[in-house]
Amino acid sequence: MSLVAVIGIQWGDEGKGKIVDLYSKDANCVVRYQGGSNAGHTVAVGEEVIALHHIPSGILYPNVKCLIGSGVVVDPYVILDEINMLREKGFVQNPAQLAISPLANMIMPYHRWLDVAREQARGERKIGTTGRGVGPAQEDRVGRRGIRMYELLHEERLEAAIAAVVPEKNALLEYYGVKERVSPSVLAAELSHLGKKLTPFIQSVDSLLFQSMARGENVLFEGAQGVLLDLDIGSVPYVTSSNTTAATCLSGAGVMVPHSLDAIIGVSKAYATRVGEGPFPTEQVNEDGSKMREIGGEFGTTTGRARRCGWLDLVALKYAVRVSGCTALAITKIDVLSYFDKIQICTGYRMGDETVSDIPDAMSLTHVQPYYEESPGWKEDLTSARHLKDLPMKARHYIDLIEDFTKCPVVSISVGPRRDQTIERKKPWKL
Ligand code: IMP
Repeated sequence: MSLVAVIGIQWGDEGKGKIVDLYSKDANCVVRYQGGSNAGHTVAVGEEVIALHHIPSGILYPNVKCLIGSGVVVDPYVILDEINMLREKGFVQNPAQLAISPLANMIMPYHRWLDVAREQARGERKIGTTGRGVGPAQEDRVGRRGIRMYELLHEERLEAAIAAVVPEKNALLEYYGVKERVSPSVLAAELSHLGKKLTPFIQSVDSLLFQSMARGENVLFEGAQGVLLDLDIGSVPYVTSSNTTAATCLSGAGVMVPHSLDAIIGVSKAYATRVGEGPFPTEQVNEDGSKMREIGGEFGTTTGRARRCGWLDLVALKYAVRVSGCTALAITKIDVLSYFDKIQICTGYRMGDETVSDIPDAMSLTHVQPYYEESPGWKEDLTSARHLKDLPMKARHYIDLIEDFTKCPVVSISVGPRRDQTIERKKPWKL
């Protein structure tokens, strides 16, 4: 048995969907364990690009069981659309392929309204959330006011749970000047309708996972967002509402017995992007940044927002590798850098007269001055490279620099969006 986690080690959008898809072919189970419908994982299959928000990217392999653990906040409206979209395309023909934990908290319409309203109320201090209601749903989870998936299976209990929270939600909506109000009867009717369609998928994820592990199967844990967006150790307050390091994967999946992971694969783009507000030392608000956005198609999967773009920041990457215990790296979208005459890479931060190559925490990312090493670009098309030796020497040096700086081996390099456009150096199962 191998337990492998794939996590983002920048600010999300690193291309985890593609990497999970790559390793899913050798997995028995793929598990989501944190985040919610704020995530946007895209996978290209042939000419088609499939965007997933809750459902693990392993769903595209019919023999892989996909599990959504109790640590994920699930929007029943969004997940049903996702299931329908996948079924129309010929996936998830057998409902047993997908299990949603009955213990997962739900994102309700009022969570989405409150998310948007709170952002507006923050004015210039806004976080730049995805507006999907994930933060308010997590607040209710921690406040023990959340309504969980299993309530969908019992109409009366569902009605009672909604009735208990509605007065507070309507008072909050009024406070924030939101025009919508929650009608308990309308919400209960909508949710029981959704619940009937979701019932086949609501299954005990922890026991399925326990059985899979007892059979000695390979389990892949699919992280959402990225380490620098972690609720505790990211660039607070400009972060998401869950813990994004691999540390959460066992509890968020419902594995309560301690196990150790065999590998933690940290996924990073060959450059850097961020959506929403917050520090981004290597951001390029110039022609280079625009070029990365245009060539890399850097627009949010969930919100369509233009992503902020910049050079790869090795100092931030080294921090993310350290705090998340990465044992290997997957580098994505290196082909985008082929269009640049000169490539910069941040190898230090200037602090007064000193240049440092380590930071104690992600709060240090505010007000640092990046120091770059510049090299001529390789200016060659990389999209048909399938082995390291197919890459031009300058691109290989770029990979070597990432490995040397982070002290972490690069096990895969993505040279285009398609499944086959990948250089696979080592399988994580055997690391
Ligand atoms: P929230 O998770 O919607 O509350 O948003 C909080 C911050 O996390 C914002 O900066 C979002 O842009 C960012 N964020 C949340 N999910 C993702 C993601 O999947 N990719 C990139 N950024 C994300």
